Amino acid sequence: MARKNKEKLALGSIITAGPGTGVQGGWKHPQAEHHRFLEIPYYVEIAQSMERGGFDFIFFADKLAIPGRNPESRELALRTGTWGAAHPDPLLIVAALAGATKHLGLAVTLSTSYQHPFTAARSLATLDHLSGGRAVWNVVTSHDDAEAHNYGLARQLQRSARYNRADEFVETVFGLWDTWEDDAVIFDKENNTVIDPAKVHELNHHGEHFHVQGPLNIPRPPQGRPVIAQAGSSEEGRDFAARWAEVIFTPQPNIDVAKAFYTDLKSRLPKFGRTASELKVLPGALIIVGENEAIAREKEALLLELNDARQALVQLSGMIEKDLSGYSLDEPAEPILSSIAVQGMQGHVNALAAIARKDSLTLGQLARRFASGLTFARFVGTPTQIADEIEKWFENYACDGFMLRTAYNPSGTEDIVRLLIPELRKRGLVRTEYTGKTLRENIGLARPERETWRQRLVTPEPIPAAATV
Ligand SMILES: Cc1cc2nc3c(=O)[nH]c(=O)nc-3n(C[C@H](O)[C@H](O)[C@H](O)COP(=O)(O)O)c2cc1C
Repeated sequence: MARKNKEKLALGSIITAGPGTGVQGGWKHPQAEHHRFLEIPYYVEIAQSMERGGFDFIFFADKLAIPGRNPESRELALRTGTWGAAHPDPLLIVAALAGATKHLGLAVTLSTSYQHPFTAARSLATLDHLSGGRAVWNVVTSHDDAEAHNYGLARQLQRSARYNRADEFVETVFGLWDTWEDDAVIFDKENNTVIDPAKVHELNHHGEHFHVQGPLNIPRPPQGRPVIAQAGSSEEGRDFAARWAEVIFTPQPNIDVAKAFYTDLKSRLPKFGRTASELKVLPGALIIVGENEAIAREKEALLLELNDARQALVQLSGMIEKDLSGYSLDEPAEPILSSIAVQGMQGHVNALAAIARKDSLTLGQLARRFASGLTFARFVGTPTQIADEIEKWFENYACDGFMLRTAYNPSGTEDIVRLLIPELRKRGLVRTEYTGKTLRENIGLARPERETWRQRLVTPEPIPAAATV
């Protein structure tokens, strides 16, 4: 079945608030300006350029520890600016962007393992109000022991315990947002009433992890609740996404794998009383676009040169929570990866093992591929070539849109907007103007009624093992 006429791509772009980028070493590119990562104008330039390009939202990942399993790898991560080596709080960055943009959605990552639901509900509701209904919460459970060490734990929680806590966390946050009826705030000067107390309710949540009385101390968000994003890919992660998420950000190296993931995710929604259109699947894609193919290929070659195998190994070790620094770069990667069971990103580890097996990669080669973003799709070429690829994925239901990535900023984002977006607009895949007021209106997600999410609190049937990556 072809996509309906006028159906647009859902389009986000992931920005790392720090020196790390979609490609390890990207900060060394002559046009990269990552040294400005502690300045508001740096982020404003990127966000305003995305808004000119009609993007739905800017997306900030987050990390709560400097990567590194031991002092040596931490030193290397710091020296080489591996992702997370320096990471300002994205919540404060998006708050600044709320005042510098009008339409762009603002996606921020908050961890259910290390935050408290009351604080998260309050911060995100505030962001939704101050931005006029443009907040997105990327719900992560985090994936690294180094993060646990910063929050008083010897180890991160096991995956099922993490997702168990995450379920209760999200329930509590959703409940808090619904403690206010939509028309509770009245500011009635004649009757001397600011808020109608009959329309503000206690939550009285008492669960395994949290006890929260409520009500929240801020009105229900303009979007009813912020758009919910998620990026887990394990069995538990997929069910969690099917229950709660409206946007899923996922690494998919090619269209066939992406189609299988898309079908799997959408098929899980009915178990939670949801329909396919309530969850948008957005694979990440690194974009290297040039005025002609030779320019694009030259850009790609330069980026790969900037990417060093030892540094890449630190990044990979951080991501899969296993110190690989003791291995030789020349060892075959597949047996090493296949022997690893992690509590963090098992889905990612499995995908890497499959790539290593298929292409018979050494550990050094795999690490460089990983650090240059190859667990994600990479589209290199002219605007027409890249738009063809994007359209193919979209038309074939491998995705509902993309989370675009650049190797360096702000000019990488500007290149996408200057070169690629006009071609996508010509094909009717990207808006020429924003028609809605809130992000939900623009991206095509309904504003939820209060309390209707409670119908999702069913226990899902187990999924056959064959459905897992
Ligand atoms: C594409 C992608 C992006 C992610 N971004 C973040 C992030 O910014 N911060 C974070 O703590 N976890 C991030 N994660 C981790 C996931 O949210 C999740 O906690 C982790 O993958 C473990 O779940 P899983 O085993 O179900 O994959 C990301 C995962 C993926 C696949």
